[in-house]
Amino acid sequence: MDLKDLRVNGRRLRESLEEMARIGGTPGGGVQRLTLSDEDRRARDLFVAWLREMDLEITIDQMGNIFGRRPGLNNDLAPVMSGSHIDSQPKGGRFDGILGVMGALEVMRTLHENRVQTERPFVIVDWTNEEGSRFAPAMVGSGVWAGALDLDWVYARTDVRGSKLGQELERIGYKGQVPARKRPVQAYYEYHIEQGPILEREGRTIGAPKGILCLHWYDIFVEGTANQVGPTPMEGRNDALCAAAEMILAVNRLPARMGGNLVATVGEIHNFPNSRNIIPDKVHFTVDIRSWDDDLALRAWEEVEKEFQGLAAARGCPLRAEVTWRVEHSPFDERLVERVLRQAERLGYSSRRMVSGAGHDASYMNQVCPTAMIFVPSIGGRSHVEVERTTWEDCEAGANVLLHCLLESLQEK
Ligand code: GLV
Ligand code: MN
Ligand code: MN
Repeated sequence: MDLKDLRVNGRRLRESLEEMARIGGTPGGGVQRLTLSDEDRRARDLFVAWLREMDLEITIDQMGNIFGRRPGLNNDLAPVMSGSHIDSQPKGGRFDGILGVMGALEVMRTLHENRVQTERPFVIVDWTNEEGSRFAPAMVGSGVWAGALDLDWVYARTDVRGSKLGQELERIGYKGQVPARKRPVQAYYEYHIEQGPILEREGRTIGAPKGILCLHWYDIFVEGTANQVGPTPMEGRNDALCAAAEMILAVNRLPARMGGNLVATVGEIHNFPNSRNIIPDKVHFTVDIRSWDDDLALRAWEEVEKEFQGLAAARGCPLRAEVTWRVEHSPFDERLVERVLRQAERLGYSSRRMVSGAGHDASYMNQVCPTAMIFVPSIGGRSHVEVERTTWEDCEAGANVLLHCLLESLQEK
């Protein structure tokens, strides 16, 4: 068979996605597979079992990243890699991340059953803690692997209950021995849902992002004075929650104030002691700022931090701000982006260039090797929610584009 005519099995891809969606499935039709939870472990176990069926060489590194390697004809050549993440947001969707892992698995199965020999080895990967929701920051599996984050710092990250990431890795049995350290890679492709409205709005099937926005995360701690809500007069209060409320609105107004090309969000807040009849004395909230323009994002932070200080002083509620994480914007390899568009066209799918507003492990992989992504439409532009959906037809289309982009890289001498 001419390899150009090779296609993935869309039905099998769908069945794999449906089986994965049952692990941590929520009543609202989404999944909750928080990183290093029991659900994450069960999904990892299933993934590893599927890798074993193809006799792949399986490696689990110190970060719990899972790799499955299929040898090539020349194993001295750097491998080609593809994958994404198995973890999800709380009450998240059944496509974010897992589509890229199951898509790469479907490509692996297609090569396996057709006994396709490739010049280079092919490595499929599941990166640990892409979401950063349970343990901040995000993308730490690929971040450590790429040499951008320190392993011990990542191990020491805690969740809201005080559990450490390193201990949780051990608890679920995925703290491997192999160093989480980069090696030469010929190309990395990550297949993902768009998570935005553009492809659907334009009726196109494939998106080829030119890169990913920068991601800047901050943690803000506001301190007030707790007191009985009844007897305490309104004047003279130091209400930490009111101060935080004003700061949150300042974040929401930031993009308009800075002139656009920027998004800024407060998505997480913890109020203490969180009782209806106690004036709050401690609030912790997060700030997420993203832009293609790293300098604009940094200036936005400086502006809003100044504003925070003014709001804090006015309410007598001092604040502490921590820079939790910054990843620069990632312009992908133009040759690979072109390849995605060319393969989409050859396979008869409409496509367009775009930008990724969502973070992906591809950001860190882009620091290691030529990288590109393949996007398929998100119905209603909804993602990180239980109703997150992509049609099965589009899932199959994206996997076919992935297959042929991978094949091109795998046959490079
Ligand atoms: C990752 O899911 C992100 O926050 O974009
Ligand atoms: Mn994702
Ligand atoms: Mn996500």
